[in-house]
Amino acid sequence: MSAYEEAILHFRQLLDAQLARAERLRAAEPPRRFDAQSRVTIGLAPGDGIGPVIMREAQRAAEAVLDDELRAGRVTLRTIDGLTIERRLALGQPVPADTLEAIRACDVLLKGPTTTPKGGTMESANVTLRRELDLYANVRPVRIPSEGIDWMFYRENTEGEYVLGSQGIQPDAGLAMDFKVTTVEGTRRIARAAFEYARMNGKTNVAIVTKANIMKKTDGLFSAVAHEVANEYPGIEAEDWYIDIMAANLVNPAIRSRFQVFVLPNLYGDIITDEAAQLQGGVGTAGSANIGGRYAMFEAIHGSAPRMVEQGIAEYANPESILRALVMLLRHIARPQAAQRLEAAVNAASDVLNMTGEPGGNTARQFGDKVLSLL
Ligand code: IPM
Ligand code: MG
Repeated sequence: MSAYEEAILHFRQLLDAQLARAERLRAAEPPRRFDAQSRVTIGLAPGDGIGPVIMREAQRAAEAVLDDELRAGRVTLRTIDGLTIERRLALGQPVPADTLEAIRACDVLLKGPTTTPKGGTMESANVTLRRELDLYANVRPVRIPSEGIDWMFYRENTEGEYVLGSQGIQPDAGLAMDFKVTTVEGTRRIARAAFEYARMNGKTNVAIVTKANIMKKTDGLFSAVAHEVANEYPGIEAEDWYIDIMAANLVNPAIRSRFQVFVLPNLYGDIITDEAAQLQGGVGTAGSANIGGRYAMFEAIHGSAPRMVEQGIAEYANPESILRALVMLLRHIARPQAAQRLEAAVNAASDVLNMTGEPGGNTARQFGDKVLSLL
């Protein structure tokens, strides 16, 4: 078979698989609701690079704020090893099968950063987990109270540019193609999550952010379906924006504080939430929730920072992001008081400590100690 014919066959397989996926999405369930009495097993997967350093602090904080519940056996913390880059490469699996099984046996997962190899065909562990657990809503809050900024990003987390990101085609050395996928159901559920958040939290505006002038099919569908959902929420204004001007708006002090909730396809959400986190104080300061029907995974928004490990300065990593992810996890499992206590302590610790990521600044352990002393 020529490379050209192989590419066509490959494309046909992708098409069949995506049509089947779109069909399955019709049966997807709404997010599981916890209550204060729910028995919950929290998996802790430290990950790679600075992951174990920051996870240690998150674990200490979880043990402190959940003390009673842990002793009463209502909450269990379970460490999940086996999500390291060494093991993933050795097995040739982005998330080893036994590790995925261990994660599935938990109710929620707090995950440290995992290294994604550049090039090759090994998929990112994040992408695999989001797909395998169908964690379709990536929820990222960014707040800058001194500027009146209180943003909530609803990034679609299972399709767009990511779903076939490792399955592009290169029929000859001179041509490469990747694929972007949008489905009606996939868009409807993320839009609904964003508008529900707006409704429950008294927000009056949702920005639907795409590049539908260029990505006419996929982003065009995303925008249309998001507007359909918006029609179910008459009190909430839905605005269309393009991603390029929105990237500019976020750094425009004249208008940025008027944005409240954003809903957007996967890759734009990836990029713009890093920008927003940087405005808040750096990617080390923002937490991220990945919510699906059955499972939810909470993680630091940043990567594993292998450079810090190579330079021997991993202990200076900032655990703030994973601690904020833990705050979101606690809210998700209906432990709002524990979440509140931890959030207040993290806010206060980040005000007084100097996390530069280098010698001279404070260490992850010092940040963790400070948080514990403030609880
Ligand atoms: C994120 C990260 C991931 C992504 C990487 C690690 C695959 O950047 O969670 O934003 O691109 O989604
Ligand atoms: Mg990212």
